[in-house]
Amino acid sequence: MQIPFNKPYLTGRETACLERAFANLQFAGDGPFSRECSRLIEKILGCPRALLTTSCTHALEMAALLLRIGPGDEVIAPSFTFVSTLNAFVLRGAKPVFIDVRPDTLNFDERQFAALITPRTRAAVVVHYAGVGCEMDAILATAAAHGIAVVEDNAHGFGGRYRGRPLGTLGWLGAQSFHETKNFSCGEGGALLVNRPEFVERAEIIREKGTNRSRFFRGEVDKYTWVDVGSSYVMGDILAAFLLAQLEELDDIQARRRRIWEYYSAGLRGLASSHGVGLPVVPAHCAQAFHMFYLLTRDGAERAALIRQLKAKDIHAVFHYVPLHSSAMGVRLGGRAGQCPVTEDISGRLLRLPFFNVLTGAEQDRVIAEIMAFYRA
Ligand SMILES: Cc1ncc(COP(=O)(O)O)c(C=O)c1O
Repeated sequence: MQIPFNKPYLTGRETACLERAFANLQFAGDGPFSRECSRLIEKILGCPRALLTTSCTHALEMAALLLRIGPGDEVIAPSFTFVSTLNAFVLRGAKPVFIDVRPDTLNFDERQFAALITPRTRAAVVVHYAGVGCEMDAILATAAAHGIAVVEDNAHGFGGRYRGRPLGTLGWLGAQSFHETKNFSCGEGGALLVNRPEFVERAEIIREKGTNRSRFFRGEVDKYTWVDVGSSYVMGDILAAFLLAQLEELDDIQARRRRIWEYYSAGLRGLASSHGVGLPVVPAHCAQAFHMFYLLTRDGAERAALIRQLKAKDIHAVFHYVPLHSSAMGVRLGGRAGQCPVTEDISGRLLRLPFFNVLTGAEQDRVIAEIMAFYRA
């Protein structure tokens, strides 16, 4: 029996929500389900405004527009991330400045932040890798001292906390992903968390093609018109209905994922001391979001052999980000090999294990046993 890396999850509430959405006959954005989802996200996270978007990528593009990022501006972000973290800002003409990650949490290395700031730096984008919080106190203090905006790419971190504060709500803006691979999903979707009330009105405009349609819908203006730049970033109500069915099961989903994470952790702990295999590091002040479980093999050849052996046993384990600074586009934008040594090292050794809400203990036993067998051989 194959054990995939990811398996999409249905809570069982989706069909009922979708039937209600069909009956509503309101399929465009900001319908009844969108409003309910936004309110629920705002309540869960305690943020002033959560705007549903078509993806996390689009929420990040909205952040770049909101911050009026333009040609010549510099944006600092980790090289060890998904392309959208930086591409959203590069689209506006910004120059990416790649920061390395900490060797323990694999997060934005706050100790290198100040040295990368120049008079052109406008924003820093942090990524809470695997749903474990970055060192936000230090990052926010450095950014504030230089007048730099902080955006949280919280694609992995919904439900996680840093020193008790929900991830995604600590920076000026936060971007969520509800892609199929995330803890809570509607296939493709996202949200922009607007943590500063002064951004709310313009965020609504940018999300509605540069118009004040949101104000018109609320009856605040008698017609809507083109007032700023924007694009089509609004999630449709059918997807919001699906998303609501997932968000309403937050506690159950997170409990499942916690059990899976802790089972891997307990089963593989011995490998760290016996074979020097790295396991995820979660600082005591970070309540993680249980998004993934990974190993750090001793080198790339070991990882390739382990992937092959697991695949032969029908277990699908996968690597993760290819560094951005040394990618084809990254090099065109000024990145160079050797710039982020920790990223270069860990991206070649990191292996993500199968992780999804209905992964059983028996399946995890098989994954753990095969990994153990690999190292014993
Ligand atoms: C850190 C990070 N940011 C952004 C994204 C993009 O998310 P979306 O597919 O919702 O645009 C991903 C996708 O996996 C990601 O890992």
